[in-house]
Amino acid sequence: MKAKFIGKSLIELDAVSSTNEYALDLIKNDIVAEGLIVFAKYQTSGKGQKDNFWESEKSKNLLLSIILHPNFVKVEEQFLISKAVSLAVADFVNTKVDKVSIKWPNDIYVDDRKISGILIENTLSGNIISNTIVGIGLNINQIDFISDAPNPVSLKLLTGKTYILDDCINQLSFFIEKRYKELNNDFNKTNFDYLKSLYLFNFFNLYEAKGERFVAKIIDVENNGELILETRQKEIRKYFFKEVSFLNLK
Ligand code: BTN
Repeated sequence: MKAKFIGKSLIELDAVSSTNEYALDLIKNDIVAEGLIVFAKYQTSGKGQKDNFWESEKSKNLLLSIILHPNFVKVEEQFLISKAVSLAVADFVNTKVDKVSIKWPNDIYVDDRKISGILIENTLSGNIISNTIVGIGLNINQIDFISDAPNPVSLKLLTGKTYILDDCINQLSFFIEKRYKELNNDFNKTNFDYLKSLYLFNFFNLYEAKGERFVAKIIDVENNGELILETRQKEIRKYFFKEVSFLNLK
């Protein structure tokens, strides 16, 4: 179980503002080989989705950014990269625990708790994705979470075991490479597996959009990232990230 090009080059930092920012500086100044990983023990301004801060205690978790050149992915279908990467992180987590799912767009959940967040930043040249920075925060050995992030969890909290971070990087790299190659060869498989792993896929749940609450089920996720919901009255509603939130039915 060894990746060939993902993680072949690895930059390891004690502390950095954000591995995504560091990777962004690298690609601004140079042509960077595909698969380079920037890994940090600590981030002073780890970036999350929706401008949130990503919490991670020093040397406890995976904080890394991978540089890819997915020139085989159309700009208007760039969410395919997110699907493949989410599947890879879920594959890795699945080797340690059960009940792993992907919460749209790309959070990794175990049961109802978030174990990993992904922040993908693409650089376009014309109609081509020239660089993608795949930022992954994956909670491994941390047991206390102090920020107000909803329901964080780590592998250690779930299993009681302590994991070796270097081993986790190698294993995760293997799955990223596998899912990335799969995306290149057969994106229908990526789409099929993504929906199969999706949290609340085909289950009615309460959602909120533009101040309105409604019950609907997820029936698809487009390759541009749009979430497709169907209400009980069979009305189809489509949302981009941040336009809709999940409210749990109790
Ligand atoms: C989320 O909010 O769910 C996404 C979190 C992404 C965090 C990772 S940690 C490594 C990389 N560097 C960053 O600054 N952010 C991502």
